[in-house]
Amino acid sequence: MKSLTSNPQLLGEKPQTNVITVENLTYAYPHQKPVLHDISFTLNPGSRVGLMGATGSGKSTLLENIIGLKQAQQGKIWIHGILLEPKTLPQLRRHIGFGFQDANDQLFMPTVLEDITFGPRNYGISPAVAIDKARQLLVDFGLEAYAQRSVHELSGGQRRLAALAAILALEPDLLILDEPTTGLDPAWRRTLAQILLRLPTQAMLIASHDLLWLGKVTQRALVLTGGSIQIDTDMRSLLQDSQTLEQVGLPIDW
Ligand SMILES: Nc1ncnc2c1ncn2[C@@H]1O[C@H](COP(=O)(O)OP(=O)(O)O)[C@@H](O)[C@H]1O
Ligand SMILES: [Mg+2]
Repeated sequence: MKSLTSNPQLLGEKPQTNVITVENLTYAYPHQKPVLHDISFTLNPGSRVGLMGATGSGKSTLLENIIGLKQAQQGKIWIHGILLEPKTLPQLRRHIGFGFQDANDQLFMPTVLEDITFGPRNYGISPAVAIDKARQLLVDFGLEAYAQRSVHELSGGQRRLAALAAILALEPDLLILDEPTTGLDPAWRRTLAQILLRLPTQAMLIASHDLLWLGKVTQRALVLTGGSIQIDTDMRSLLQDSQTLEQVGLPIDW
């Protein structure tokens, strides 16, 4: 991706090798103490990272900062080496697939098919190509019979799948998902893991409480506690460390 700035050094641009760079991010909701304190981390190309932390630890808030839905009081975020700021946001959004914690926030068109073709058509993909791609995604997500139905006729889990299909329709090179397995049964959790593992996506950052699922899909774990990232480690070893998980409010065997 090409830089927007003519003099990277002067503007403190980050090396383009990182897909995400978060530096000293502090975020507080209005009139409250900060939810995120001085958070710094990077994601390299090819990394699949699980964002963990107890309910209320700030996972959604962090993800919403990274996609520019919230603006931190302090700190900076770079995506592909480009500083996230209002003027770069439209360009950066084109590369980021973001799945909201609540799938209803993602779906707004009259039919499921229109929801899945909306993004690509908005970016100038021809209707025929967008529809072909959407039909394939509907099959992948078991929704082919629902193409012309309203999302209001779908179950919670089906809405989740429709929202994921709408995100993948854009073929994002950075995928950021907030609790993607909510409402999915074990078979669909497995299918979703398989779909995500097949994607050519450059990097994934996935917030989830679904620890065992996260263990199948991601390699690295970031754990949010007390407003900062207390643990940044290999996912597999963390999932074997029930004592540490218990300490951060994520009991795995109980
Ligand atoms: N819109 C909001 N206004 C004020 N506080 C909020 C708002 N959204 C979330 N919070 C608070 O921020 C903290 C982190 O929330 P959130 O990022 O949703 O956590 P998580 O996704 O890890 O469950 C919680 O204490 C929550 O109550
Ligand atoms: Mg959340």
